Amino acid sequence: MYNEKLVVLNSPKSPASEGYRTIRSNIQFSFLDSQIKRLMVTSSGPAEGKSVTSANLAAVFAQSGKKVILMDCDLRKASQHKLFGFSNHIGITNVLLGDAEIEQVLENVPNTSLQVITTGPIPPNPAEMLGSKRMQAFLDELDNYADIIILDTPPIIAVTDASLLAGSVDGVVMVVASNQTNIDLAQKSKEQLLNANANIIGTVLNMVDEDSQDYYYYYYYGEKSKKKGKKSSGAAASL
Ligand SMILES: Nc1ncnc2c1ncn2[C@@H]1O[C@H](COP(=O)(O)OP(=O)(O)O)[C@@H](O)[C@H]1O
Ligand SMILES: [Mg+2]
Repeated sequence: MYNEKLVVLNSPKSPASEGYRTIRSNIQFSFLDSQIKRLMVTSSGPAEGKSVTSANLAAVFAQSGKKVILMDCDLRKASQHKLFGFSNHIGITNVLLGDAEIEQVLENVPNTSLQVITTGPIPPNPAEMLGSKRMQAFLDELDNYADIIILDTPPIIAVTDASLLAGSVDGVVMVVASNQTNIDLAQKSKEQLLNANANIIGTVLNMVDEDSQDYYYYYYYGEKSKKKGKKSSGAAASL
């Protein structure tokens, strides 16, 4: 049994998982003529679902037979190790410091073709690390290890980290949290990403209220959240 938030792994037949599969298809559609290798998931603010979305997206790509690496590039608020139940004693920062080899930081998710790279020890200078030449070299080398690499990142508005990475990936997916994300900030984030030469391929609407009209309008799927009552915990596809 995986963490309950990894709905794609726990209940592949659920409507929420179907939602993630729709997102996967839409991402693939937007890369018809080009190769998609690195995909970044980000959003304007904190707690909008970047980490949950990137984890389930990584899992759903793995279920389609791809070899996937999920990287926790939120060197400020590490979370993928918690979602997948790994220790975080070694990860990205160790590789960047030259203290670890790639093979040492790849964690296998049982019964999947998904591997996770956790942050490793949280550094005092995350932006510098993510924007470094070593990070570029790390990504270039990782390309040999997977079909798709998915990067979970910090919020765009607060820190420059996501913008620093945006030019090094093939596509950026922006998560928007229903009834939470500030539209002005989302617009600003989009501009910031475009300034960083990002290829924004679309948005994912997360935390949709199943009872709201929007839920039906957008044809989104979701599961009832235990915590939030009628709020949906499912992801949505809008690309
Ligand atoms: N689709 C979802 N299903 C279940 N829980 C979710 C979902 N999206 C977000 N959450 C919950 O909301 C909180 C913030 O999500 P998280 O992915 O950590 O956001 P971010 O990475 O943007 O800060 C977490 O407690 C997470 O479990
Ligand atoms: Mg996060």
